[in-house]
Amino acid sequence: MWFIPGVKLTYFGHASFLVESGDYKVLFDPFIRPNPLAAGVDIGSLKPDAILLSHGHEDHVADAVEIARASGALVVANWEVVQWLAAQGLTNVHPMNHGGARNFPFGRVKMVNAIHSSTLPGNAPGGNPAGFVVTMGGSSFYYSGDTALTMDMKLIAEEFRLDFAVLCIGDNFTMGAADAARAAVFAGATKAVGVHYDTFPPIEIVKGDAFAAFEAAGVSLLLPAIGETVEL
Ligand code: NI
Ligand code: MN
Repeated sequence: MWFIPGVKLTYFGHASFLVESGDYKVLFDPFIRPNPLAAGVDIGSLKPDAILLSHGHEDHVADAVEIARASGALVVANWEVVQWLAAQGLTNVHPMNHGGARNFPFGRVKMVNAIHSSTLPGNAPGGNPAGFVVTMGGSSFYYSGDTALTMDMKLIAEEFRLDFAVLCIGDNFTMGAADAARAAVFAGATKAVGVHYDTFPPIEIVKGDAFAAFEAAGVSLLLPAIGETVEL
């Protein structure tokens, strides 16, 4: 095949984004209504086929139940987060855990390691935090979730040829831009979308510094505006 279609990624602020490939839309870590910066985004318009949740923190799951109810989307998350979703009445859910991979109608998902924490809203146990490597259509990408830089990211480069990575860059609670640039290199991505920055004062960044850190690592960084769609 000489033409491999890419994917479209739309950013909704914080670590929330939608990836579209062919007929499928997959939404990640929806935190939209509580984010004043994302006030222009109407969650009712998203209509994803699936929602992937990296961990239990409020700033990743806030709108998951509402969007899943409205759209009927399948929600994929770790075992404990899925129990929490099921307790709220969601039935179209699928639990995974680290190291596991599975084929879904929209593509293949492997749940990979992240170094972080994962308590759910209301203090329910949220299991362990994760990242995902997703293959949709002809594209493979890594979403780090919230994480520190970890040598485990090198395992991703051994197994996959990534088209891009979506990496947290806000520092303080997760990798900052310098470590995220190293994460891109570890995982084998030459293109990265930065997320998890500027939402709250502790994760405000200087964008010029982030671009410089990625450029020094030979990785091109994209920071789409909230609501912006980029082709990857
Ligand atoms: Ni978190
Ligand atoms: Mn977070």
